[in-house]
Amino acid sequence: MPSERAKVSGAPVRFDPSKLEPGRQITLEWHSKPVFVLRRTTEILQAMDQPSHLQKLRDPDSRVDTQQPAYAANPFRSIRDEFFIVIGICTHLGCIPTFRPEVAPEDLGTEWIGGYFCPCHSSKFDLAGRVFKGVPAPTNLVVPPYRYLSGTSIEIGVG
Ligand code: FES
Repeated sequence: MPSERAKVSGAPVRFDPSKLEPGRQITLEWHSKPVFVLRRTTEILQAMDQPSHLQKLRDPDSRVDTQQPAYAANPFRSIRDEFFIVIGICTHLGCIPTFRPEVAPEDLGTEWIGGYFCPCHSSKFDLAGRVFKGVPAPTNLVVPPYRYLSGTSIEIGVG
């Protein structure tokens, strides 16, 4: 984990993604912001790739280019599909969305396939950080710059 000084200075943060169980997420800190790192399963990726899901999204193709580096402007908004890295700050007014990976929970409805839910004004994002239509958040969550140093090391803040 980064030192306190590194967190404050905004220095790059390194992380070993292989330590993350499939379907699990951890929160790191970079530039004093929460950064979610999620290891997505094949089931998660398949569910997000359905036309019936994509039509519910405001920017399914990541056309708003301020929201991710060019190398993450792809269907799953990542360098490698399995690992999703995103700044955990809602693009409405800056609350921290909650990680809600469960399918069809009672409070989010039968069509919920897993995603992020913002408790402040109910914005919803999928597990690629893509915002749903009809919620207050205007854009997808922001993917920070990052790169793979190896199969067991991701550096966030450079890339
Ligand atoms: S801050 Fe997230 S919906 Fe308003």
